[in-house]
Amino acid sequence: MAEKKKFQAIKGTRDLLPPETELWNSVEQTAREVFGTFGFGEIRPPIFEPTELFARAVGGETDIVSKEMYSFEDHGSKGLTALRSLLLTPPRSITDQQSMWLYECFLLDFLSQLDLAMQNQTISKSPENLRAQQDLSTLAGELSQTRLRYSETNSGTDSEMFNKRMRKVSIFVLLINMGDELALRPEATASVCRAYIEHGMHALPQPVKLYYMGPMFRRERPQKGRYRQFYQIGAEVLEMVPPNQDPAKNIGKDAAVDAEVIEMVMAFFARLGLEGVKLEINSIGDRDCRPKYVELLRAELLKVKDKLGPDSQRRIETNPLRVLDSKLENEQGIIAGLPKIADHLCANCAGQYAEVKRQLNMRGVAYAENWRLVRGLDYYMRTTFEITALGLGSQNAVCGGGRYDGLVELLGGPPTKGIGFAIGEDRLILSLQEAGKGGAAQGRDVFVAWMGEKAQATAIAAAQKLRAAGFRVELPPVGQKFGKALGQADKLGARYALILGDDEVATGQWTVKTLADGSQTKMSEAEFLEMLRKGL
Ligand code: HAM
Repeated sequence: MAEKKKFQAIKGTRDLLPPETELWNSVEQTAREVFGTFGFGEIRPPIFEPTELFARAVGGETDIVSKEMYSFEDHGSKGLTALRSLLLTPPRSITDQQSMWLYECFLLDFLSQLDLAMQNQTISKSPENLRAQQDLSTLAGELSQTRLRYSETNSGTDSEMFNKRMRKVSIFVLLINMGDELALRPEATASVCRAYIEHGMHALPQPVKLYYMGPMFRRERPQKGRYRQFYQIGAEVLEMVPPNQDPAKNIGKDAAVDAEVIEMVMAFFARLGLEGVKLEINSIGDRDCRPKYVELLRAELLKVKDKLGPDSQRRIETNPLRVLDSKLENEQGIIAGLPKIADHLCANCAGQYAEVKRQLNMRGVAYAENWRLVRGLDYYMRTTFEITALGLGSQNAVCGGGRYDGLVELLGGPPTKGIGFAIGEDRLILSLQEAGKGGAAQGRDVFVAWMGEKAQATAIAAAQKLRAAGFRVELPPVGQKFGKALGQADKLGARYALILGDDEVATGQWTVKTLADGSQTKMSEAEFLEMLRKGL
C-alpha cells in the first residue's frame, strides 16, 4: 500500500483562513479607499520577473538579492538539469575505464536530451547554444577515442588526456543557456518601474500614482512577523523629469510629494485604528554627497574594525552604511560616535530634507528623525522612512519606503523621479489583532430552517431573495427537525432563524425567531425583508 504522505504548508508560508481573512479583506478595502482618495490607481504586476531586474534595482550585494531570492531557471527539463550537475562536477581524476565509460554515457545522454529540447523549443537554438552543442559533440567523440586508446595502452598520458577533456566538457556545458533566470518577486518597486517603462507611462499625465497588494517572497529565517511568503501593500509615485530641468528648483515640489506619500500611509493607519504608530525619517543624500560620506564612514569604521562583529567587519568593505543598521548590543556605543550623514549632506539634499520636515509639520504628521535609518535596498536616495507599530516584537517595522530618483533610468527608462513605500500586511494584521481589532467570525443574518418537500421549495426561493438583497443566508441541504436546526443556527452565529414548515407554506406567514433573545413572531416575506433592512 502506498505510504500516506501528510502535506503541510512549506516552512515560512501559511494558510490565511476565515475569520482572519475577513480582517485582511477589510484592511485591503480600506487601502483601496484611502489610496483612491489620493488619486492612486491599482497595478497588478506578475509574481515572477527576470532575476536580473531585481539584481539591478535592489542591488546584487543586498541580502534580499544575494541570499533571499527564490530564483530558478525557466525550462521544462528536469532530466537535463540533473545531467548538467553531474557533468559540471566531474570526479577530480578518473583512471578506470568503467568510470570513463559512465561519464561518456552521461554526456551522450545530455546531448540527446538537449537536442530534443532544442527541437521542442524548450531550450533556445541561439547561436551560442548551437556552438556549445557542436563543441560538446566533438568532445564526446574525442573522449570516446581517448577511452578506447587507453583500453589498449593503459598509459598515463591517455588517462590524463581523458581527464583534461572531461574538464573541458564542464566548461562547454556551462555555456549552454538552458532558460531564462527568473525569480519570485521579493518586492514590487522594481516591477512597477519596469511596467512604467514597458507601457510608456512617461507619456501619461505625470506623476503616475500606483498602488499594489499581494505576496512577496524572501528566503528569510521565519519567526513572528517574518515569513517566506508575506504580503505587502505598497504605493509608488513616478514622474519623468523634463529635459534640462534644474534639479535644485524642484526641491520644494519633491518634498511635498514625499510628505504627501507619508501622510497617505499615516491616514491609512489612522483609519484602521493601528496603535503605537511611530514614524521615523532620514535623508541618505544623493549621488553627489553620499559617496563622500560613505568613504568617511568607512575610514572611521576601519579605525574600530577590531571591536566590530564579523557582519559589520564585512560590511565595512561591501556597504558601510549597513553597519548603522546593526542591532548588536556591543556595537551600539561605537555606532553612536560615528559621523552622521545629516552633517554631510550637500546643499540640495539638506534643503530637501528640511523642506520634507516642514511639509510634514504642515500636514500634522508627527515624526522622529533617525540618522541610522539607511534601509536595506540600494535604490534609495534622500528621503527614507520607516513606521513601527505596537505588539510586533523584534520585527516591528510595519512599513518602509523612500525616494528612488534614477531607478527607472537604471532599468533602461527615461530620467524619472520616484518615491514609495511598502507596508508589511502580515505585520499590520498582527498588530491590529494584538490590539483586539481582529476580525469577528463571519456570522449569518438568516438561517433557514425547513422541513418537508413543499417547505424546501419555499426555503430555496426565500434564500434566493434574501441573498439577492445582500444578506448572509445559510440554507441547510436537507430538512432538519427544528430543534436541531436552531442549535446549528446558534453555532453559526445567525441573527434570525426563518422557520418554514407546512403551516408557514400554506398561510404565507413565516415564523421568525430572533436568536439573541429567543423571541418568535409571524410575518410575511415583505415584512421580514423590511425588518432585516432596518436592522442592518
Ligand atoms: P522593505 O523594507 O524591504 O521595503 O519591506 C517593506 C515592509 O515589508 C517591511 O517594513 C515589513 O513590514 C515587510 N516585510 C519585509 N520582509 C518581510 C518578511 N519576510 N515577512 C513579513 N513582512 C516582511 C520594500 O520592500 C520596498 N520595496 C518598499 C518601497 C516601495 N520603497 C519604495 N517603494
